Amino acid sequence: MAKLKIGVLISGRGSNLKALIDACAAEDFPAEIVRVIANVTGAGGLAYAEEAGIPWQMIDHRAFRDREGFEDTLHRALKDAGVELICLAGFMRLLTESFVNRWWDRLINIHPSLLPAFRGLHTHERVLEYGARFTGCTVHFVRPAMDDGPIIVQAVVPVAVDDTAEALAARVLREEHIIYPLAVRMVAEQRVRVVQDRVIVQGAGTPRGALVSPTLHRVGPSKTPNHTQSARAR
Ligand code: GRF
Repeated sequence: MAKLKIGVLISGRGSNLKALIDACAAEDFPAEIVRVIANVTGAGGLAYAEEAGIPWQMIDHRAFRDREGFEDTLHRALKDAGVELICLAGFMRLLTESFVNRWWDRLINIHPSLLPAFRGLHTHERVLEYGARFTGCTVHFVRPAMDDGPIIVQAVVPVAVDDTAEALAARVLREEHIIYPLAVRMVAEQRVRVVQDRVIVQGAGTPRGALVSPTLHRVGPSKTPNHTQSARAR
């Protein structure tokens, strides 16, 4: 079967782009990156595209009078490259409804939280402020509202008591690098169907059981005798 042609849009360091490039390097991976586009000059991730010999281009949104002009150019560039699926990977620009409509169910994003919780920016800081026990990351189809749309894959990451936003971000990012290629594989293998705006993945399993946090660990014998102990002593 022909490989699914993907276009990756970035604005920054591009570690998720790198994870996708590495996944695509495997011969049996069912997708290939045919174009990388950045909207910010000097986006670090472009170096990964260059290194891998993937055609890349800069389309600076500031060079356009309005969003429509920028998005028309973006759309044309993606079409010209033969892109069939767009992967947003740290693309810090909200796309208009008209662009999202043109790429309906062919446009996916990764977000560093368990959506629909903690949409938007500064997710890890807000997770810590809130005292959530778990966070994670989500790959989802894009809908016009920010960080909204049918969920394809999620990974759960426990929050540690002494976490900093940086430590948590790094732990979540490691999982992002696993689930983004996984989601692309599922789409490319045509296992993903959107039914009533929810994703059904054909041939997918669900992990059994549940994670619980916090758990208690024993820190030595208890100093306060419990009822059983005092009953035995009598
Ligand atoms: C990631 O945390 C991603 O979830 C979010 O933006 C960040 C991009 O990181 N949308 P990188 O540029 O892929 O390293």
